Amino acid sequence: MSVTHAPQTADVLTRQDPELAEILLGELDRQSSTLQLIAAENFCSPAVLAALGSPLANKYAEGYPGARHHGGCEIVDVAERLAVERAKALFGADHANVQSHSGSSAVLAAYAALLRPGDTVLALGLPYGGHLTHGSPANFSGRWFDFVPYGVDAETGLIDHDQVRALARTHRPKAIVCGSIAYSRHIDHAFFREVADEVGAYLIADAAHPIGLVAGGAAPNPVPYADIVCATTHKVLRGPRGGMILCGSELAERVDRAVFPFTQGGAQMHTIAAKAVAFGEAATPAFGAYAHQVIANAKVLAAALADEGLVVTTGGTDTHLVTADPAPLGVDGRTARGRLAAAGMVLDCCALPHADSRGLRLGTAAVTTQGMAEKEMERIAALLAGVVRGEAESARAREEVRDLVGGFPPYPA
Ligand SMILES: Cc1ncc(COP(=O)(O)O)c(C=O)c1O
Repeated sequence: MSVTHAPQTADVLTRQDPELAEILLGELDRQSSTLQLIAAENFCSPAVLAALGSPLANKYAEGYPGARHHGGCEIVDVAERLAVERAKALFGADHANVQSHSGSSAVLAAYAALLRPGDTVLALGLPYGGHLTHGSPANFSGRWFDFVPYGVDAETGLIDHDQVRALARTHRPKAIVCGSIAYSRHIDHAFFREVADEVGAYLIADAAHPIGLVAGGAAPNPVPYADIVCATTHKVLRGPRGGMILCGSELAERVDRAVFPFTQGGAQMHTIAAKAVAFGEAATPAFGAYAHQVIANAKVLAAALADEGLVVTTGGTDTHLVTADPAPLGVDGRTARGRLAAAGMVLDCCALPHADSRGLRLGTAAVTTQGMAEKEMERIAALLAGVVRGEAESARAREEVRDLVGGFPPYPA
């Protein structure tokens, strides 16, 4: 039997299910021939894809290693123990739970471990980059808990620490959440710990975005400060789509019971094996170099976009994320995203602090995995600005994008 990665999987499917194979190859072609600037995405390795496409996908495994509700778990138990040990070592955590199916289910489990319905929680407001799970009325978080939002400073775009402290003193929350989908600066975990201690709150760090930078030693580690750290494994960390929770040993049992049986059933053992592979990769010096290059690229991209006239939130970045207002180029984020999509540049819109219009959110995780560096970031910024201004005809811009990405195949043959 052979292990698989995307192109070879397609070979198997071509014989058995050509209709689906065509879809898979179409997506591979889309990912390879357009520019992937979505900040939450990356290209995981062929080894990660191999684990995802392995026979571990067949196994039911409710519970935890050594204490399963199904028979035949002796091999997958080894895989889960390996993933747990690698995660603990990578992030310096006493305890790791690697079963959460997604970042959102990791946050749900963190709340379930620490809170009761109706409890007050302080988190970054959605207009400033908070995630749905940080109190959106459309999400379980906003329906089951009483969220109090903090914001960012109108001038600097930086988290308003004075407001965080004042709101914490007024509302005495049971938990404070730090973490964002769009905040491009490092979060001051020591500050949040201090405020949480002052008001007797738990501190939950939702490090879904920067956790890969933390793994590579390129961003501050929330583990020494937060009671619980939630994360995704598929962003800069470059693993399979999924979630993870890190905590101290005193909360280990509560966290494990909050994941299973409270919020989930059977663990997805193929994904857990793929997480183990990704943690192994992230522990290498090569990944450290990658994480630092991701940030170097984002800094150059932010500066080049500012030179082109976009207003970069906070004036720059410490991470893989750049958010910017294209309004000075004559369009809002939504129109800009549409023009860029037509030219093969794939990115997201985002809320802009203290503005009614939408901005653009870009990330450098995927392009850096492809091998792009500072020179390519400057080219991307120039291309982007030309397309957003409507100067570049989209067919010509599309050709330029194709030419650029053609030199950096995500899965070289
Ligand atoms: C801060 C934050 N929390 C939670 C999530 C949710 O992750 P998922 O989409 O895997 O549920 C995300 C995803 O982007 C995120 O950025």
